[in-house]
Amino acid sequence: MSQSIIDAVATSHDISQEQLSVLLHTDDMMLVQTLFAMARQATQRSYGNKVFMRGLIEISNHCRNNCLYCGIRRDQSGLQRYRLTKEQILQCCAAGHQLGFRTFVLQGGEDAWFDDDRLCDIVSDVHAHFPDCAITLSLGERGRSSFQRLFDAGAERYLLRHETASPMHYAQLHPAEMSFDNRMRCLDDLKAIGYQVGCGFMVGSPYQTDASLWADLQFLRRFQPQMVGIGPFIPASGTPFADRPAGSVDLTLRLLSIIRLILPSVLLPATTALGTLSPNGREMGIMAGANVVMPNLSPQGFRAQYSIYDNKLASGSEAAECANDIRSRLNGLDRDASPDRGDFRP
Ligand code: 5AD
Repeated sequence: MSQSIIDAVATSHDISQEQLSVLLHTDDMMLVQTLFAMARQATQRSYGNKVFMRGLIEISNHCRNNCLYCGIRRDQSGLQRYRLTKEQILQCCAAGHQLGFRTFVLQGGEDAWFDDDRLCDIVSDVHAHFPDCAITLSLGERGRSSFQRLFDAGAERYLLRHETASPMHYAQLHPAEMSFDNRMRCLDDLKAIGYQVGCGFMVGSPYQTDASLWADLQFLRRFQPQMVGIGPFIPASGTPFADRPAGSVDLTLRLLSIIRLILPSVLLPATTALGTLSPNGREMGIMAGANVVMPNLSPQGFRAQYSIYDNKLASGSEAAECANDIRSRLNGLDRDASPDRGDFRP
């Protein structure tokens, strides 16, 4: 009976709230294993054995926002703030290129110092020096004309997690000055401009419910992003949610598989948060249908300062300089780290 739920989700690319509840809460481990296997098959049909590697460069931990969950929020005290220079960013890219990366993700807090002129200058220099690479930005909410200028300068992809598709839940995770509608406006603008867009959410964030998760999945179905980033919530000391329990690895894996069945060709990272909560979290993510890894390419001396949550991994398989380790660990899972840019293939 329950097996038929998985078949129904896989063929309709949709899920009812009741079906979601069963798949999230069943303690029938055979059923969960079947879910993972079906998701792996869907990944295989879309991308074969390829897993795509993205080099993550954390360009600034300054942030104007005060998201209740985030360790680099504006009110976080005792945090050394930093921002990378263009030269440092280009050096990271050069090191990454040498290691075989063909996508660079420039990620940062919402730092007003990185205005359009400065960012466009950086993006066009990265583009000119590494014309065979894709540039992904993950710099939060901006105006439409800003997104357009960055696109024109050579950025092709943008990651902006929607965080939750429930406006009520959004208001429980963010201060009143932040707006769900503006988040959605940004995502729509990015799509309209022609970016490959990534959205996503944390699993197990405070106040999350089965209903809000179902709303997230409905949003994904409607929005049809090219990428979806999900990872467990992990408490960050010093934040209002410091004492909340972390999200569950198991639930994250189930959701990765469900997202894979709903959006068979989406690019789905096995995130750092998953790897932080469990020593082989990222491997389990791949076995649940993920097909992207994003190791850290930031200068070593700054990694600890990009502390969006406690104990965030930035070494071992999370470190870009260990690209060859990562490749062999993927080979152990019967996967190959792809040497190409890893564009979305509808
Ligand atoms: N735990 C897990 N993920 C977090 N993020 C921010 N803070 C945390 C946390 N405490 C996620 C958010 C954000 C992305 C950059 O990291 O979803 O969009």
